[in-house]
Amino acid sequence: AEGDADAGKKVFNKCKACHAVGEGAKNRVGPELNELFGRTAGTAEGFKYSSAMTEAGQGGLVWNEGTIGAYLHDPKGFVPKNKMAFAGLKADEDIANVLAYLKTFSTS
Ligand code: HEM
Repeated sequence: AEGDADAGKKVFNKCKACHAVGEGAKNRVGPELNELFGRTAGTAEGFKYSSAMTEAGQGGLVWNEGTIGAYLHDPKGFVPKNKMAFAGLKADEDIANVLAYLKTFSTS
């Protein structure tokens, strides 16, 4: 189902402790999430990733609706040993909505 970007903005409150997105977004505890769609995993400039995330990107992981959704559903299951200290989102609706919100900051 198509997500709702306005509802996703609220879901993103759960991410904000660690991530910034939008104009002037900087890396924080987690990498900035502008232009996330189409971005290879582990490549935000200047962010120090786990070797697990860097290697996932080198192995061909590119962020899109399917891969971000799978990662948010089960971060440690989708990229074992990555260092995002977040249990993930259980509700498919929350995932669809946060994807729609993040997509507003990506051109592809
Ligand atoms: C990585 C999304 C919550 C910390 C990532 C990545 C995405 C993402 C897409 C991979 C980015 C890349 O490869 O450049 C989200 C979303 C969240 C969320 C949408 C909320 C629903 C959090 C929270 C924290 C966090 C709450 C901190 C407690 C991190 C860290 C990484 C990361 C440290 C890098 C992982 C590594 O290098 O292994 N996140 N995140 N995230 N996130 Fe989150």
